[in-house]
Amino acid sequence: MKAKVINILQKALKEKKIKLKKEEIEKLVEVPPSIEMGDYAFPCFFLAEKLRQEPRQIALEVREKIRKFPLTDFDDVQTKGPYINFFLDRKGLARKVVWEAITQKKNYGRSDAGKRKKIIFDMSHPNIAKPFGVGHLRSTIIGNSLANICEFRGFKPVKLNYLGDWGTQFGKVIFGFTKFGSEKKLHKDPIKHLFSVYVKANKKTYEKKSREWFKKLEQRDKKALMLWKVFSELSLNEFEKIYKILGVKFDVYARESEAVRDSKKIIQELKARNLLKKSEGAQIVDLKKHNLGVCIIEKTDGTTTYALRDIVSAIKRYKQYKFVRMVYEVGQEQKLYFKQIFKVLELMGYKWAKNCVHVDHGLYLDKDGKKFATRKGKTIFMEDILDNTISLAKKEIKKREPKMPKTKLEERALKIAIAAIFYGDLKNNRSNNMVFDIKRFVAFEGDTGPYILYSYARASSILKKTTNQDKFKILELEEKEFELVKKLSLFSEVVEDALKHWNPSLIANYSYHLAQLFNEFYHTCPVIGSKEEAFRLALVEAFRQTLKNAMKLLGIEVLEKM
Ligand code: ARG
Repeated sequence: MKAKVINILQKALKEKKIKLKKEEIEKLVEVPPSIEMGDYAFPCFFLAEKLRQEPRQIALEVREKIRKFPLTDFDDVQTKGPYINFFLDRKGLARKVVWEAITQKKNYGRSDAGKRKKIIFDMSHPNIAKPFGVGHLRSTIIGNSLANICEFRGFKPVKLNYLGDWGTQFGKVIFGFTKFGSEKKLHKDPIKHLFSVYVKANKKTYEKKSREWFKKLEQRDKKALMLWKVFSELSLNEFEKIYKILGVKFDVYARESEAVRDSKKIIQELKARNLLKKSEGAQIVDLKKHNLGVCIIEKTDGTTTYALRDIVSAIKRYKQYKFVRMVYEVGQEQKLYFKQIFKVLELMGYKWAKNCVHVDHGLYLDKDGKKFATRKGKTIFMEDILDNTISLAKKEIKKREPKMPKTKLEERALKIAIAAIFYGDLKNNRSNNMVFDIKRFVAFEGDTGPYILYSYARASSILKKTTNQDKFKILELEEKEFELVKKLSLFSEVVEDALKHWNPSLIANYSYHLAQLFNEFYHTCPVIGSKEEAFRLALVEAFRQTLKNAMKLLGIEVLEKM
């Protein structure tokens, strides 16, 4: 509908010899705070200078132009002071929106504008032999949602998990294991054990030894490689357990280690472009001219760096996928780093470097505002977070249904826990730091995942009470019904905005408001047995479908009962 308003305005303004682009008009169009001011409003003061006229007068004249057009979707166009106010044909809109939602079903809000072009999501990317961190959790949740959104808008997302399985730290882990490790402990709890030998080895006195082990690894020493392979497999197994719980799947597992083989070739390429410089024994690309410091490519001992592996990987990915965008969903602390990588690729002459984006996220904080990753000096393990959330969800369920059978309870608690964590994260603007407060996330009231699931289940239960399948007619449209309709009509635009800004929080916030409007509607307008039953049932169904689609984009499965 907004698009229609913009079109009309563009046409009318053109007749007044004002040429504005759609985007310029879009920025100005407002949704008025109260319904008496119409459904959309356009302020005219910014034209006053150009036209040397009173804004009020301009509004009147533009409105006259508009009134001469055949207006199908609007009841009226009025002015109030400097504003032009558009009043939608409410019943018409309600009929159209509800009908679209209930017939298009899971495709309501979908578009094929992306033409199946590929967008790569470098996401999740935990490190082998290390605990799956909360940063990796954020990247998994946000990356997953963004990939869903892309798919919904017609792109072909490629979810790529770039496992951190190479680098100096592996020298430490391997050395640590040879010195402090135990086979038995390794197999019992691989990540905890490897992490503990890593912590023991991560001391100044062992630095030389660790570096030697990493060098051996890069030179493909048998023993080093064998241990590394075992660690990789065991870690990946553990990560896969987490992904299974989260319900997140990947299209590809890529590895930092895979980039080592082609690294020599890329170093040659950098040399040929005159980009490499020796500095304190290391090979660097000097980016000071671009205000980006220096990017270390190869270490003094000739081993590869994180940056080199990323550069090699990016080039390989472009060859393979010809992506239109490559999104790196990685924490904010790597902001400068990604600017460097993209700059180096650009300087190497890769035009597609401009299509690489770092979609960053902030930190999880604990309630005292401290970094959440380690608390009281102890590392927090993902399994513990998940177990904790699931048991809290169980408590909430038991409050309502004390006698639920065990398997059903497990299943439902898992879904509620995932909704709580995903929504608790995604409702925040991703770049912001946020408090990771599981207790609040799991609450059934407030701006939470469970609240939204609950609203969905309520809609489902209304529909279950009836077999009424009458074609609906709209006799009278209540205020609350219209508010709900209008919100439903905005779904597609919201998804588009979320894609444009790589920001799933727009969909999360939309879902919350939608659920609130539904609850208000439900409290003021009786459904079953009312004169408007057929229409209201259709409206409930339209709400249910839209919310389900929105949740799916966030990676959250709905529940028919709660
Ligand atoms: N594994 C890295 C870490 O835990 C993140 C990798 C991000 N992706 C990339 N292509 N550099 O910090």
